[in-house]
Amino acid sequence: MNDPNGMFYLNGVYHLYYQWNPYGSQWENMTWGHSSSTDLINWKHEPTAIERDNLGTIFSGSCIVDKNNTAGFGQNAVVAFYTTEGRNQVQCLAYSTDGGKTFTKYDGNPILTDENRDFRDPKVFWNDQINAWNMILAVGQEMKIYSSKNLKDWTFESSFGSGFGCHDGVWECPDLIKFGDKWVLLCNINPGGIFGGSATQYFIGDFDGKKFVSTQKDTKWLDYGKDHYATVTFSNAPDNRKIAIAWMSNWQYGNNVPTKQFRSANSVPRDLFIFEADGDKFCGSKPSPELLKMRQGVIKTPSETCEIVATIKDNTQIKLSNSKNEYVTISYDKKSQVLKFDRKHSGDVSFSKDFAFETSVKVPGGSKELRIFVDKCSIEVFDSEGKAVMTNLVFPTEKYSQLSATGCKTVIYQLVK
Ligand code: FRU
Repeated sequence: MNDPNGMFYLNGVYHLYYQWNPYGSQWENMTWGHSSSTDLINWKHEPTAIERDNLGTIFSGSCIVDKNNTAGFGQNAVVAFYTTEGRNQVQCLAYSTDGGKTFTKYDGNPILTDENRDFRDPKVFWNDQINAWNMILAVGQEMKIYSSKNLKDWTFESSFGSGFGCHDGVWECPDLIKFGDKWVLLCNINPGGIFGGSATQYFIGDFDGKKFVSTQKDTKWLDYGKDHYATVTFSNAPDNRKIAIAWMSNWQYGNNVPTKQFRSANSVPRDLFIFEADGDKFCGSKPSPELLKMRQGVIKTPSETCEIVATIKDNTQIKLSNSKNEYVTISYDKKSQVLKFDRKHSGDVSFSKDFAFETSVKVPGGSKELRIFVDKCSIEVFDSEGKAVMTNLVFPTEKYSQLSATGCKTVIYQLVK
C-alpha cells in the first residue's frame, strides 16, 4: 500500500481507504483498499472499495459526506473523488449509500480533465464562505482550485504555487484546511523533500473559496523525518478536529523496504493545529489523544511496540539498541533547540543508498518533553506539544531491547500487545 485515501468519519466510524496493489508487493494495479475503526487505533479490514475500470487504475483522492444531498445521490451519501490513471489522468466520482462500504461509479465520469500529464489527487470540502464545495487538485508543480454546487460540475477558480515553497519535484496529494481565520495548504512533494525524496510541505495563508494567498515566506515541512508522505486529513471529523494520517515511507525506497508479508504502514494519527513561536506561525502535529489509550502499563526496557516519554532536563541523548550493536540515537540540544534522529546504524540499511541518514529540525520555541512511538519498523518522535515531529523507518535485525538516556528522565509504556 501507499497513500491514505478518502478518509472520513460518519456515525461513530472512521473510514480509511488506501492505495493498494491486491496482486503484488510493489506499486502497481492501484485500487482503493478499505479499513474502518471506531477509535483510530484498532482497524478492521473491509472489502475492496473501488477497483479499476476501463478508464484506468484508481489513484488517490478523498471522500465527503453529502449531508444535504447536493449531488442527488441521497442524503448522507458518501461521495468519493479519485484520479483514474489510464492514457492520461482524469478525475472521477463514485458514491456510496451504505456508509462507505460499496461504491457506485458515476456514469458521467470523468468529471474533470486537463492537458497536464500530472493531474491528480482531488481533495473536496464544503466551504461556508461560498456556500459551495471546493476541490483542490495537484497539477504538475501547482495546485488548482475549483468550486461546485452539485459535486459533478466544477468551475476552475485559481492556481497556487508558482514562486512558493519547494519545486524540486511533482506536487501531489493536496489538502486545504481551515483553522479559525487561517488556512493551511498541505502539499506533498516528490522528489525534493527536505531530506531527499518524498515529504510534506505546507503553506499558511488566507482563502476565500476562490483564491489561496500564502502569507508565509519560507518553506515549511509538516514532519522532519524521511518517512512521512501523502498526508491528508479526515473529512467530517468530530469536534472540528483536523486529524491527519501519512503514508510512512518514501518513494526513494518504498518498493524495496526489507519487510515480509506486508509493504508499508501508515503513521499514527495526528491532530493538526496552528501555533506561533519565534515570531512566526507554524502548523503543529500532536499525537491524537486516542493514542493515550494504547498504553498498557510501564515497562523497564523497550519492547517491540512501546512509547517512550522523555522529560528533557539538559542536552539529551536517547539511544535504542539491540545485542547486535544496531542502534538509533535521538538527541536534543537545549541551546540550539535542535532535535536529531540518526538511523545510520539502525539495522538493515543496505537496500537503498538513501536510507542511512540523520534527520534534524529546530523545534520552534524549544521542547520540554518528547513522545517517541516505537513500532516494529518505525519510530515517530513528537515534541509532546506537537511543535515538531520526525517519522523514520528502521529495520533492526533484532528488536531494540535496551534504552540508555542522558539529560532526560524516561518512562516506557508498553503499547497494545
Ligand atoms: C503519491 C502518489 C499520488 C498518486 C498515487 C498513486 O504517493 O504518487 O500522487 O495518486 O501515489 O499510487
